Amino acid sequence: MTVDTRELILRSLNAALHSKKLYPPGHPSVAAPARKTQQLLTNYIQGSERLVLAIVEDSLVFEDIPEANATEQYGDILKYLTEKKIEAIAFKGGMEDGELSSVIEILTSDEAGSTQEELDKELKDLGVIHITLQSMPVAKRSHLEVYNDAIGVVKNVMGQIRLGKIPGSEEVCAIITEMSEMVFTNTNAMVGLSMIKNYDEYLYNHSVNVSIISLALARHMKLDRKTVDTIGVAALLHDVGKTGVAEDIIKKPGGLSSEEWEKVKEHPVIGSDIAEHMKEMPEEVCRIIYEHHVRHDHSGYPRSARPLYQYSMIVTICDAYDALTTLRVYQNPHQPVDAIKILKDLSGAHFTPEIVEAFSDMIGVYPVGTMVRLTTNEIGVVTSVTPDENEHVTVKILYDADGTQLEEPLPIDISPRDNTEGPTIVGAADPLSRNVDVSAFFEKEAK
Ligand SMILES: [Fe+2]
Ligand SMILES: [Fe+2]
Repeated sequence: MTVDTRELILRSLNAALHSKKLYPPGHPSVAAPARKTQQLLTNYIQGSERLVLAIVEDSLVFEDIPEANATEQYGDILKYLTEKKIEAIAFKGGMEDGELSSVIEILTSDEAGSTQEELDKELKDLGVIHITLQSMPVAKRSHLEVYNDAIGVVKNVMGQIRLGKIPGSEEVCAIITEMSEMVFTNTNAMVGLSMIKNYDEYLYNHSVNVSIISLALARHMKLDRKTVDTIGVAALLHDVGKTGVAEDIIKKPGGLSSEEWEKVKEHPVIGSDIAEHMKEMPEEVCRIIYEHHVRHDHSGYPRSARPLYQYSMIVTICDAYDALTTLRVYQNPHQPVDAIKILKDLSGAHFTPEIVEAFSDMIGVYPVGTMVRLTTNEIGVVTSVTPDENEHVTVKILYDADGTQLEEPLPIDISPRDNTEGPTIVGAADPLSRNVDVSAFFEKEAK
């Protein structure tokens, strides 16, 4: 293509987009440049298969050649493509009357950026078959961004309930889909994030943590994806009923009076009632919320004689684990290793043995987030665990054998436990005594 033709096409397309906002529909100043551009494109395409106009790293690229002064000369093209999150427009030969006008219509509409599916549908609805629009790929978000978004979703849901509204279920389902995807691709990184414990905003962090651990456990139990996600939604919402209990009771330091305790015990019923009113909320979600404090031996609350729904116990166990490993007014946090021991001691009474087994198998002997001392006398944090027979563990060393803090954590692989070569884990070390903030460590890692 000659420089002139390139310029003519881009200038004319830019003018067509520009005038679209200045004149009413049907005005000759709108229709004429669109028609002209389509004519120029048609003339050019003859002989070649298609023509692509794209945004590559914020620059306008036409037929693989970047436009040097696009911002000044073709600002409208850049603006509309970016706003609509469109990465490329491909033109094919044989365009029929009005096809480019329809595309200009789509590009200049007031609606925000569209997904590929929506773009395809819009084009189809307008009868456009020789021009395709390629949406920009959704940028991969970091684990921490997703974690923080999940906190935002829980806050929003609880905020709406406090205002007496029934929240929608869309944002809950959307964030669970994203977290579930991340748990499937990198369980360790997600479980590491569940070590973030926020004392002041306990309820929000607790809800997100329980959902991460529950997603990981459900996945470890090889449940199908739909069931895994349902469990994740239930876990995220398991304590929404606490919005129905006075805040001073929920946050009360120290013991509760028996009357206050009775109030707290209402939260599973209130919560499942709220979930029932949320649009398109699966029945299983309400059931899990209702049963998350019913124990294996049917003690706990609310009193329920019917057999437990088979997956309620997943959330019950993950709820207990997160509560045990969190600093509370009335309790120092238990080390993950101790928390697992407590769960095992209560197996068969509070907790269903098979699910405690699956949990302990998933989380490992030294779970992600445990601070450990090695045979070399070094101290580090467990950052990944592979649940297999030998249990491969990665530890990031924070303190060397002399107790000097390293500038950068040093990752090492701990060989299988029965391997006598190389360092192995002697036992858990207490992060409090070293003043190590394990949750800050994982926050930094996830950025
Ligand atoms: Fe609860
Ligand atoms: Fe809870």
